[in-house]
Amino acid sequence: MSNEQKEPLVVPAHIAIIMDGNGRWAKKRGLPRNAGHRQGAKTLENICDYCQKIGVRYVTIYAFSTENWKRPQEEINTIMDMLRNYLKEASKQTRRNVRLLFLGDRAPLASDIRQLMNQAEKDSAGNTGMTLCIAVNYGGRAEIVRAARSLARLAAQGDLAPDEIGEQLFSEHLYTRGIPSPDLLIRPSGELRVSNFLLWQLAYTEFVFMDVLWPDFSPLHLDQAIAQYAKRNRRFGGI
Ligand code: FPP
Repeated sequence: MSNEQKEPLVVPAHIAIIMDGNGRWAKKRGLPRNAGHRQGAKTLENICDYCQKIGVRYVTIYAFSTENWKRPQEEINTIMDMLRNYLKEASKQTRRNVRLLFLGDRAPLASDIRQLMNQAEKDSAGNTGMTLCIAVNYGGRAEIVRAARSLARLAAQGDLAPDEIGEQLFSEHLYTRGIPSPDLLIRPSGELRVSNFLLWQLAYTEFVFMDVLWPDFSPLHLDQAIAQYAKRNRRFGGI
């Protein structure tokens, strides 16, 4: 079939990805887990470029969860160092017209990382290409509790009546305010769970679970996930 005859790809506007399987990828090769994370970061770069190329508007990735602090300190340090290096090179994203946003509680992060995050968000705020949301020290439940607290505070001050709280207002108190909900969630590595990722936002998202480990994830796998997504009949609760 020639390119002209191919069905046009239905590209989701927003893809969320749980980058899972780095540790297993390294273990299979007799390498330390950190080698898996390093390879995973390369995959991330490659997949982001590809998403931008095919017209995805938003990509949200799970880089570090509120639960990941339970990992050995050395592994935490490596992931934080990788984040630090990524942020130092964030101007690369700016050049590519990518807007960067960080989701999660920044308070426990090192102050240089917090500063680099603020700077990267500021520098890329005017970019009109793809938006890349990176979840760091992010937990879906914690995000919902934080939004509830912030609304409760407004109500307690007398600035908000409880009946004024609806889904729209609630969404505006989440880290993802202003970002449309993901259309597609991809979790590689064979695990079949959401692991506290975007609990509110995934209400009507299509899930695609794949057996490939994240460091081996290629644009071809992304095409396969999008092809599955394209076959789904999204009804959003209707018929
Ligand atoms: C999950 O695989 C992966 C993580 C917890 C870390 C993901 C982080 C990166 C790919 C790089 C950091 C991000 C940036 C923006 C530079 P796992 O370790 O749980 O794998 P396993 O289940 O096979 O052990």
